[in-house]
Amino acid sequence: MSAKEQDIERSTADRTGDPDRKRRAGIITRNFFLHIHATRVHVHSMKPTYTFGLGIILGFLFLIMVFTGLILIIYYTPSVEAAYRSVKDIVYLVPGGRIIRNMHRWASQGMVIVVFLHLLRVFYTGSYLGKRSLNWVIGVALMVIVLLSNFSGYLLPWDQLAYWAVTIGSNIAASARELTDLIGITSFFDPGGFLKKMLIGGESVGQPALSRFFALHVILLPLSIIVLMAIHFWRIRKDGGLSRPVRYLKDRGTENKLLAWPVLMWTELALLLGVVAVVLLVAIFADAPLLEQANPAHPDNPAKSPWYFLGIQELVSYSAFAGGLLIPVLYLVFLFSIPYKDREDEYVGQWFSGNEGKKLVLWSAGAALLAVVLQLFVLIRFGWLKDWIPGISQWFVLLINPATITAGLFILAAEMVKRRKKSSRMGALVLFTCSFVALVVFTVVGIWFRGPNWEFFWSAAQWPVQ
Ligand code: HEM
Repeated sequence: MSAKEQDIERSTADRTGDPDRKRRAGIITRNFFLHIHATRVHVHSMKPTYTFGLGIILGFLFLIMVFTGLILIIYYTPSVEAAYRSVKDIVYLVPGGRIIRNMHRWASQGMVIVVFLHLLRVFYTGSYLGKRSLNWVIGVALMVIVLLSNFSGYLLPWDQLAYWAVTIGSNIAASARELTDLIGITSFFDPGGFLKKMLIGGESVGQPALSRFFALHVILLPLSIIVLMAIHFWRIRKDGGLSRPVRYLKDRGTENKLLAWPVLMWTELALLLGVVAVVLLVAIFADAPLLEQANPAHPDNPAKSPWYFLGIQELVSYSAFAGGLLIPVLYLVFLFSIPYKDREDEYVGQWFSGNEGKKLVLWSAGAALLAVVLQLFVLIRFGWLKDWIPGISQWFVLLINPATITAGLFILAAEMVKRRKKSSRMGALVLFTCSFVALVVFTVVGIWFRGPNWEFFWSAAQWPVQ
């Protein structure tokens, strides 16, 4: 009998008859920190290829952020005059300061990447189905806050990179102005301007922006993450542990369960050490960027937002309103509503909902890639409406551009698949996959192929000398 089978047997033994089982269960239930776990975990949840440990890695990355952030805050000064100098002091004067700053920066970038991967794993295993819909919604909120948290930290070093990235970000927040300008109501109804003002406290980035971003970054957003994370973990317990395929759902009590102590604890400890080691190694060898001090009179060209918003910045270059507001809001509404539109609970806990879903995902990814690349090819090679018909109304540019066409095509394809297969899950798989592929393509173009004046270049080496 293998060690795992022995463990299951011991876990399944008579409740009062096995003192070792009782002792191991007691270690979990009596410990304040370990009590977050159930005493028994289903064998399916322990399969590394089910969760890839992504949720736990996220938790550990957040811990690293908090610890390193608490050290950074001792030396950092949130004023326009002193911020840059204080970051330089952290890097060059404070013992270990360079490593702590690098760890903070790379852990935060890691969180953004891992939160997307966790979202993919939860979606493709149908883990929002059944009673887990609320936890999905909390998860989407967490993802938004992780992005905002990262963005708010971006400004703090007050260097050229930070200043112009946040300037671009705040202009994206004012995207609604394209629409209100077109209708001619901006002078008395300006929601875009209001949002921008809320964000940076004025028309351009300055001390009010730095103070706001500092408060958001060190208090409001981390606190929100802590509260939501606590509810997220509590819901996992309330929802009966992690999702698992229907064939396991009848496993009640101790059936097919492993005692969490010590197997799960050792696994988590190993994961924690692994995460700290990776972040530390990256921090030793790669420095977080710090350019020259912010100079509002000398704009960067191209001025780029942080990489995770570059997909949106690419869309904004087609139409500020469609790319900066309409599509992102539609996308968020779609994400939040997935568990309420798709209620086919029989697919819970199954990667891609089986072979049919897997094929559909591959086809959708291929088709979406082709559709987006083709449109980008036309746009870059032949221009768009304004180049073909000079003087065309801005309304057409706002309504017909690669962002709106792509979104429309994807919604149509998903609706067709949903009706044909009579399955909301299959429709959701198509829409989610297509939009994710499009987001990746737009982001890649924004990161690597856009240069001065947002022109397309195959590489930075081709940029004109400025
Ligand atoms: C700071 C961000 C987040 C943290 C720290 C976090 C943490 C975790 C952890 C530790 C788990 C259990 C282990 C695992 O599945 O890997 C989990 C499960 C889950 N997460 Fe997250 N999560 C975060 C963001 C998200 C996001 C963005 C979503 C999706 C929109 C999400 C939805 C879920 C759901 C539905 C489950 C239950 C999965 C199941 O039952 O199989 N979480 N999360």
